[in-house]
Amino acid sequence: METITVVADGKKEKYEELFPQLVALVGGESDLIANMANISAGLKATFPLYSWVGFYRMEKGELVLGPFQGKVACVRIKVGNGVCGTSARERKTIVVPDVSRFPGHIACDPESKSEIVVPMIYDGCLFGVLDVDSDKLNSFDEIDQIYLEKIVEIVAQKFYQAQ
Ligand code: SME
Repeated sequence: METITVVADGKKEKYEELFPQLVALVGGESDLIANMANISAGLKATFPLYSWVGFYRMEKGELVLGPFQGKVACVRIKVGNGVCGTSARERKTIVVPDVSRFPGHIACDPESKSEIVVPMIYDGCLFGVLDVDSDKLNSFDEIDQIYLEKIVEIVAQKFYQAQ
């Protein structure tokens, strides 16, 4: 049976407990949709206060919505637009403490207050982004960045192998 169990309290401790379980969950599976779906679900279950967790994939030069947990969201985002498109263009993680202060932020969910977007890159190839939203200001920090980048790398490697 596939399960994720995280009992730790602190953010870092939660990620430490979650990471090996995600590796075990997706490690032997090559299906990209299944892996993105399970990673979204594992993150959302571990951090219920994160209101939206999901992937956008690079498809024909734009970001297209992939597996996610949360409310329905915008389907297509152009590279360079919003936080997701900026992360894809700059190929770097973007932490937004207050989305109202990010020029061009795309408000899929009006309740979203802060956000982190991690580009999915392996061996120089960009495959998409992971986007995590929160209903609270200042929800994300370097701990999220470090662990989400590690988690996203697992999926990016799977995309690379599937090419
Ligand atoms: N806020 C994102 C759009 C995606 S949703 O938050 C799920 C952005 O500005 O790119």
